Amino acid sequence: MINVTIDDINIQVPQGTTILQAARMIGDNVPPAMCYYSKLEGSGGKCRTCLVKVTKGSEKDPRPMPKLVASCRTAVMDGMEVRNETSPEVIEARKGVTEFLLINHPLDCPVCDQAGECKLQDLSYEHGLSKSRYDFKRREFERKDIGDKIQLHMNRCILCYRCTQVAEQLTPERVHGVLNRGEVSEISTFIEKAIDNNFSGNMIDVCPVGALTDKTFRFKSRVWFTKPVHAHRDCPDCTGKVTLWYQGDEVLRVTARKDKWNEVEDFICNKCRFEHKTTSDWIIDGPASIDTHSVISQNHLPYELPVVQKQLNFENKNENV
Ligand code: SF4
Ligand code: FES
Repeated sequence: MINVTIDDINIQVPQGTTILQAARMIGDNVPPAMCYYSKLEGSGGKCRTCLVKVTKGSEKDPRPMPKLVASCRTAVMDGMEVRNETSPEVIEARKGVTEFLLINHPLDCPVCDQAGECKLQDLSYEHGLSKSRYDFKRREFERKDIGDKIQLHMNRCILCYRCTQVAEQLTPERVHGVLNRGEVSEISTFIEKAIDNNFSGNMIDVCPVGALTDKTFRFKSRVWFTKPVHAHRDCPDCTGKVTLWYQGDEVLRVTARKDKWNEVEDFICNKCRFEHKTTSDWIIDGPASIDTHSVISQNHLPYELPVVQKQLNFENKNENV
């Protein structure tokens, strides 16, 4: 085990741990991560939102690192000292990165299905300017259907590469990727080929913004009007552990369960996601825990769960018989 200190908090971590992972272990003052995803191999290093300042390289070589470093890609060294939220330089850089990410990203949160769950929305709330300084024309693309259940709205894409990593790592053959380079880069299914495999829906869950959306949920409701409930079913293709998003008694969408870092716990198959949208398809586990700072928790605490309650009452009755 090696010692690392982040914002004056010391922790011991295994060799090979990155600064971001160490910060997550501490649990406080964690750098934001728009492209790193612990469940996807090779993720990180694209968005630069996780920049931190290394004020002491290690016990052996205490020199500070000359530039800010991407915490998701920098392994800790024994005795390393890092500044995250306590460094004005880091906060200034994060503001700059946010401004860059928002150069082409439309501010269409009022009509975007991702609003309320969007990491870029959180980032711009914390670090964004109230006004864009960008005077040039923004990138604009036509919306594309990739497969019959997923829509790509490239205007909102921040090129984090997570969806291509899902396609590469979860599905047998990759049919989409990033075309071109620099300002003209875009996510594309080569020659508009539909993504036709049973795990493609996970791209929706890993997309940090509203670029990839679930067509079966589009414009049905704002996420904060729905109630997330954990449920499971016996699925031959995945773990079958999901979150059902209810409005009244209706399941508006099904997603994978996410952890406190907003990462999927277990990737789920498209059958669970798109084809099982009635309560009777599922065994209800109980309310999903939602961060109290999240807009999703608004008006939901204490939780009222009419649907679950009905099912639980029914089960209790059966037990009493
Ligand atoms: S579509 Fe979403 S997941 Fe894919 S690269 Fe763009 S922002 Fe990332
Ligand atoms: S999260 Fe580290 S560069 Fe994107």
